[in-house]
Amino acid sequence: MNILITGANGQLGNEMRVLSVQHTQHTYFFTDIAELDITSREAVTQFVVDNAIDIIVNCAAYTNVDKAETDEALAHEINALAVENLGLSGARVIHISTDYIFSGEACVPYSETDSVAPRTAYGRTKREGEVLLQAVCPESIIIRTAWLYSTFGNNFVKTMLRLGQDRESLGVVFDQIGSPTYAEDLAVAIFAAINAPVWHAGVYHFTNEGVCSWYDFTHEIFSLAQTLLDREAAEKIASCQLRSILSSEYQYQTQRPHYSVLNKSKIKQTFGISIPHWTDSLQVCLEKLLKE
Ligand SMILES: NC(=O)c1ccc[n+]([C@@H]2O[C@H](COP(=O)([O-])OP(=O)(O)OC[C@H]3O[C@@H](n4cnc5c(N)ncnc54)[C@H](OP(=O)(O)O)[C@@H]3O)[C@@H](O)[C@H]2O)c1
Repeated sequence: MNILITGANGQLGNEMRVLSVQHTQHTYFFTDIAELDITSREAVTQFVVDNAIDIIVNCAAYTNVDKAETDEALAHEINALAVENLGLSGARVIHISTDYIFSGEACVPYSETDSVAPRTAYGRTKREGEVLLQAVCPESIIIRTAWLYSTFGNNFVKTMLRLGQDRESLGVVFDQIGSPTYAEDLAVAIFAAINAPVWHAGVYHFTNEGVCSWYDFTHEIFSLAQTLLDREAAEKIASCQLRSILSSEYQYQTQRPHYSVLNKSKIKQTFGISIPHWTDSLQVCLEKLLKE
């Protein structure tokens, strides 16, 4: 099959690129905004026709949650209208969405059929993208994920590694609960959907297994980093005092969901995948990152 990956310079797009070498039965077209701006309906359709694209994996998005509050029009163009463009192109679409489409007020893991109530501009635009895509292309696959990190791009793991070495003390919130997601594991799940003998359209949830707070996540990053960094850097992280704080003690520009845990039963059953625990995947990612 001919597979188009949009947003290929981002965290997930890069992981798709790395994993594609294990799936040589397909031909890949890796594009980012310079090669294919997905906000152009004409350009998307032309690209799909010219290259006989069978499947689009949409890794492109406007992902800056804070900036989206003051730039909702652009976020809407990329996260909603552009997703409709992909759905109208004639190719099958695998689209990535987010836990931010939920209110974050639940206390049991969100399933795919739970009602949505985005609380942020980013969440609203991502939800609009889901709705538009399903309207024009009901055969699409939408995978909602959360707390994504990778060796590529900027993310929470890299920020904590830097702050842990720069600061004497660091407060991280313990009242926001979710499941970290190593983008490489999400890419594995996407390939399971691509290679399934039957196309299973629908909405799915994917994160790593296990649940933690951002404080717990940071605690584990610091513990693992100390075993992987050189002595001087490890000593710096060891001496950084990690404090658990409440969200109310942190100056957030934009409200964050308190509960982001997603129920992954459907994706595991449908595609027969098993998902690593977040601590195991964090170790894999840090080993790669800190070897570089
Ligand atoms: N990051 C998270 O924690 C998280 C959590 C839940 C869900 N998700 C979802 O997971 C998916 C992948 O996220 P990610 O973290 O890999 O994103 P990312 O690293 O921000 O990558 C997105 C890529 O899309 C590109 N892009 C932006 N506008 C475009 C356009 N008009 N046409 C083509 N490409 C464009 C970006 O380029 P520029 O960098 O130049 O803008 C960037 O290279 C997204 O759908 C996101 O909403 C992410």
